[in-house]
Amino acid sequence: MTEAAAERAGGVLGWEHARTPDLRGRTVVVTGASDGIGREVALHLARWGARLVLPARNRAKAEGVRARLLRETRADDGADAVTLVDLDLADLGSVRRAAREITGLLGSGTADLVNVAGVVSPRRQETADGFELLLGVNALAPMLLVESLLPVVHERVVLVTSHAHTGGRIDLDDPHFRRTRWTLPRAYSRAKLTAMLWGLDLATRMPTGTELQLAHPGWVVTNLQNASGNAQVDRLVTAVSRPLAMTATQGAAAVLLALTQPLPPGSYVGPDGWQHLRGRPTLIRRSEQALDHDLSRQVVDWMRGEVGLAP
Ligand SMILES: NC(=O)c1ccc[n+]([C@@H]2O[C@H](COP(=O)([O-])OP(=O)(O)OC[C@H]3O[C@@H](n4cnc5c(N)ncnc54)[C@H](OP(=O)(O)O)[C@@H]3O)[C@@H](O)[C@H]2O)c1
Repeated sequence: MTEAAAERAGGVLGWEHARTPDLRGRTVVVTGASDGIGREVALHLARWGARLVLPARNRAKAEGVRARLLRETRADDGADAVTLVDLDLADLGSVRRAAREITGLLGSGTADLVNVAGVVSPRRQETADGFELLLGVNALAPMLLVESLLPVVHERVVLVTSHAHTGGRIDLDDPHFRRTRWTLPRAYSRAKLTAMLWGLDLATRMPTGTELQLAHPGWVVTNLQNASGNAQVDRLVTAVSRPLAMTATQGAAAVLLALTQPLPPGSYVGPDGWQHLRGRPTLIRRSEQALDHDLSRQVVDWMRGEVGLAP
C-alpha cells in the first residue's frame, strides 16, 4: 500500500479500523490552520473533499497554507475550495467581524467548526480587551466565535483543548492573574480547564441535530514548544522533544477522529498512551474538575459576561 493509500485508510492517523471520511459537499471552518496541528487537520479535511474556511491572524502564512492545500488536493474549484478570513483571537472586535464574515460566506449553508488555535507565551501579556492572553485566546475568544456561529453549525463542533487542563485551577476572584503570580503552566492549564468547562456546558446546549466533541492532540512537536522566550532554549527543547513527541500529523488524529467518526456527544478524545502524551486516539477521561457541572455553570456565566454574550 502506498503512503497516500495508507493515509486514506487512516493508517497514519492510527485509526485504520475506521471508515475514511467522505466530506465532499461539506464545509469545515478550522481555526489555527496556519501552522502545526491545525494545518494537518486542514490538509486531511481537504484530502477528504471538504471545502474549508480558514480564519487566521497572519494572512501571508495562511495564503501559503491555502496554496499548499490546493496544490496537494488538486482542487479544481480552487476559487472557493479554501477561503481565508482574518481572525485575531486576541481581539474580540476581530472575532465579531470574523463571525459575521463567515456567516455571510456560508449564506444559507452550514459548516462544521474546529477550533484548533491556541497560544502560549513566556510572560504575562494581555489581549486587546485586557484579558490575560492565554485565557483570552485559548478560551474566551473561542467561546465568542463558536457561540456566534452556532446557528450555522452543520453537525459538529470540535474544541481542541489539552490534557494540561488536569493541572488547572479556576480562580474567579482573579482569573486574569492581575494580583496572583502568573506562570506559564498555571496560565495554560487554567485556560485549557476553562475551555473544558465551557465545553461541558456547551455540549448540553448544542442545537438539535448537532453535537460538541473535545479533543486533546497529545504531546506534539510544533511552535507551541517555542515558549521560553529564548531561541537557543527553544531549539534545545524542540531537539529533545522531537524523538519523543508525536508529529503534527499524529497530533491531528484525535481532532480528525472527533470531527468525523461516530462518538457519544460531548466525548473527550486523545491518545491512548501513558499520561495521554502519545498513542492512538480514543475516548479518554477528563479530570474530575472538568466534569463538575456546578463549576462549569459558574465559569460559563463569568465567561459570557467577559465576552459580552447574553446570560
Ligand atoms: N503541541 C502540543 O503538544 C499540544 C498539546 C496539547 C494541546 N495542544 C493544542 O493544540 C492546538 C494547536 O497547537 P499547535 O501545537 O499546533 O501550536 P502552533 O503550531 O503554535 O499553532 C497554533 C495555531 O494557533 C494560531 N493562533 C495563535 N494565536 C492566535 C490568535 N491570536 N488568533 C488567531 N490564531 C492564533 C497560530 O497562528 P500563527 O500561525 O499566526 O501563529 C497557529 O495557527 C492549541 O490549541 C494547543 O493548545 C497542543
